[in-house]
Amino acid sequence: MDIKKIRSLMPNINDMTYLNTGWSGPSPVYVVDAIKSRLELESFNGPTSPEILKSGQKIMSESKGLVSSLFKCRPEEVMLTDNTTDGINIILNGLPWKPGDEVVLCDLEHPSVLLPAYNLQSSRGVRLRMVTVNLNDKHNDIRQSFASVITGRTRLVMFSHIQYSTGLRMPVASIASMAHKVGARVLVDGAQGPGHIELDMNALGVDFYSSPGQKWLMGPDQTGALFIKHNLIPEIHPSRIGFGFSSNFNLEGRFEAVTNSIDKFSMSTTSAPLRAGYNAAVKMILNENMSEIETRNLELTRILEQGLSSINGVNIISPLGEAECSALTTFKIDRVDFSKATLKLWKNDKIVVRAIESQKGIRVSTAFFNTEDEIDKLIDAIKKLSDKG
Ligand SMILES: Cc1ncc(COP(=O)(O)O)c(C=O)c1O
Repeated sequence: MDIKKIRSLMPNINDMTYLNTGWSGPSPVYVVDAIKSRLELESFNGPTSPEILKSGQKIMSESKGLVSSLFKCRPEEVMLTDNTTDGINIILNGLPWKPGDEVVLCDLEHPSVLLPAYNLQSSRGVRLRMVTVNLNDKHNDIRQSFASVITGRTRLVMFSHIQYSTGLRMPVASIASMAHKVGARVLVDGAQGPGHIELDMNALGVDFYSSPGQKWLMGPDQTGALFIKHNLIPEIHPSRIGFGFSSNFNLEGRFEAVTNSIDKFSMSTTSAPLRAGYNAAVKMILNENMSEIETRNLELTRILEQGLSSINGVNIISPLGEAECSALTTFKIDRVDFSKATLKLWKNDKIVVRAIESQKGIRVSTAFFNTEDEIDKLIDAIKKLSDKG
């Protein structure tokens, strides 16, 4: 992988150290150019002229094809969404709930998992079963904790592929298999998945996987994709109704609802410029080879962890085990407020990281375009913060 070449396409990050891709990745010039040229094309040629409409539809179907290559699934199993949270809501509000149904989730989750689940509990009478995951838990411990609450009453098991708070990579396939044994469905919050680690929907064994464009893919905000396993599309009822719901209706109120096609969730007008930017982002990741990108992300994590471990008073919260770790690393510094430290890193050294309130820690994302020098710079800055206390 030619990091120099990749960085030459990201001039926007040369005057800072950007280590926050897990929140939002900096879009390279080819993403920005794709958005700009599509927007210009629409503005200068009439957004509804036949050629423009046709090329807009092509961008949408190309997007599904690109996601299917990235996710190793069928294009007909891909729905284009606004972001991860959008996809999670489509599934949670579309499943046919019955009183007494249970949803299993865990206590490390992002609000995008917790809040829609809490809403389900209060609006549909669904019971939530919260699994406690300890910071030192290995995959085996996590599997046992999930196994102890998954029962015949479980209707859905939902959790993040990679936990935003600690970077813990969850044992997706084995939890999915446990859930399927009791007839439950599996929804994975894939906010931290695409562009970060290799994906294969069949190997993961999930039913639904919701993902964003703006994080590790480095696409624009308000782009995402939701995977729905083909045989489960009829089971999910669209909770918001738009153009895709029916193509056969009349003025007397009769309509024939689409059931088997994922297009039934389509709402109305969407942004072809943003989708063009998303497509450019996914193409680049596919061209570079996802397995090499994952290896590079994790190599940088190892360098970061070694550096952090050498500083007195720094305590890494993230899992270090090979199966459990990811390129998100959260740590604390003795006697240093995590939130103020994040602001100081920006003010003093132009380093972008983020504070994780739930762990009272600082989170660093090491993405493949980052360099070893940038990690050294961060380590020096953390040493200074730690020395000053
Ligand atoms: C695990 C997790 N879930 C959900 C989200 C929200 O993602 P989106 O903004 O794409 O809805 C994030 C964003 O940080 C996340 O890390």
